[in-house]
Amino acid sequence: MNVLLLGSGGREHALAWKMAQSPNLGSLFIAPGNAGTLDYGENANLSPTDFPGVKKFVLENKITMVVVGPEEPLVKGIHDFFLSDEKLKNTPVIGPKKDGAQLEGSKDFSKQFMMKYYIPTAQYKTFTKETISDAFAFLETLSPPYVLKADGLAAGKGVVIPNTIEEARKELEDMLLNELFGNASAKVVIEEFLTGIEVSVFVLTDGKHYKILPPAKDYKRIGEGDTGLNTGGMGAVSPVPFADSTFMIKVEEEIIKPTILGLQMEKIDYKGFIFFGIINVGGDPFVIEYNCRMGDPESEVVFPRIKSDILDLFEGVATQTLDKKKIDIDTRTAVTVMLVSGGYPGEYEKEKVITGLEEVEDSISFHAGTTEKDGQTVTNGGRVIAITSYGKTIKEALKNSFKNAEKINYEGKYYRRDIGKDLI
Ligand code: AMP
Ligand code: GLY
Repeated sequence: MNVLLLGSGGREHALAWKMAQSPNLGSLFIAPGNAGTLDYGENANLSPTDFPGVKKFVLENKITMVVVGPEEPLVKGIHDFFLSDEKLKNTPVIGPKKDGAQLEGSKDFSKQFMMKYYIPTAQYKTFTKETISDAFAFLETLSPPYVLKADGLAAGKGVVIPNTIEEARKELEDMLLNELFGNASAKVVIEEFLTGIEVSVFVLTDGKHYKILPPAKDYKRIGEGDTGLNTGGMGAVSPVPFADSTFMIKVEEEIIKPTILGLQMEKIDYKGFIFFGIINVGGDPFVIEYNCRMGDPESEVVFPRIKSDILDLFEGVATQTLDKKKIDIDTRTAVTVMLVSGGYPGEYEKEKVITGLEEVEDSISFHAGTTEKDGQTVTNGGRVIAITSYGKTIKEALKNSFKNAEKINYEGKYYRRDIGKDLI
């Protein structure tokens, strides 16, 4: 199989690493990729949302499968673009079409879907600028904190959780009237605040059958002890002790099965990953959000725990024969610690030279925001490198990641030293 992988983060490096282990892989191209993906294939200077550019590349390089990492090309309809093109329609795309990608692309759609199929989630209502006075009235019926979500994609920033009603009203005005998130906040979902611990659950589905991948816990805040601003994710751990078999059976019965069935009822032929952002409320799982892709940095612990050939699983997705495939999971624990740029998630500088990568032992360095410049590896994003390690326990795995986090250096390096500690 000749694969084109779209994306450039740690998730894509982990996917490239995993696909490269497959005996079925011919050539691998990553668009645009990063300095780490160069170890497994050729980087292509191509934006994942430049569909005509992707088409040209696929035809010129005899690509036989396209794997989509991030949500944006999916929400913009890359899979539909392939299906509607005579020359591309037989090239499988791993990732849902526009209709399925709405699970992530529209919070209002995903909430309606969950309500329709009795999938446990927070109570909510959706408002527009025309109904802002109803929104203010709805806020009065809730108790703080308040959860406001821009309906559309807002680069991971579309959820705000104000503590007071005054802030909530102000925020709502900014979103609905002042287009805080542009068109993405033309509709706003207001929902009940749920209290609990979060876990990311993933499935790979061919639309009919599904495989549950290892669950992972992500650490979203920049500061130790889960303080400060939200980030893309500062580290991850898999498996997650509280997501035990009793909890996961509830997740499968109450959430995964009704989701797959609901997609079929809606005639949404979904081929790809579904990411369930789950919150454990007193032992019961609720869906906080759906994403139409894998998580990052969760991918950096999930793919290392999948023993089976990922391309064989993807082939099962493409041909809707996933039920014929087996998925074997490594019983070891995997952890990842994200090294970020100084200042992230605010402003930060790029092009800092990274040293010490070759000294990493007993861990895998998955590159996130890196690139090659004048023969050197330099920083190219907020999240720079995820250091993944295996262990018999979380503690044992963390020891290696933290040891190697000290060996890799660049100006402004920062990482959380408390990843996984709450689970030990
Ligand atoms: P989302 O972008 O939907 O994942 O939301 C970002 C974060 O906001 C989530 O990871 C949760 O920590 C938090 N969050 C979202 N919705 C709720 C809710 N209904 N109750 C409590 N926390 C929430
Ligand atoms: N780590 C959370 C996400 O990928 O959205």
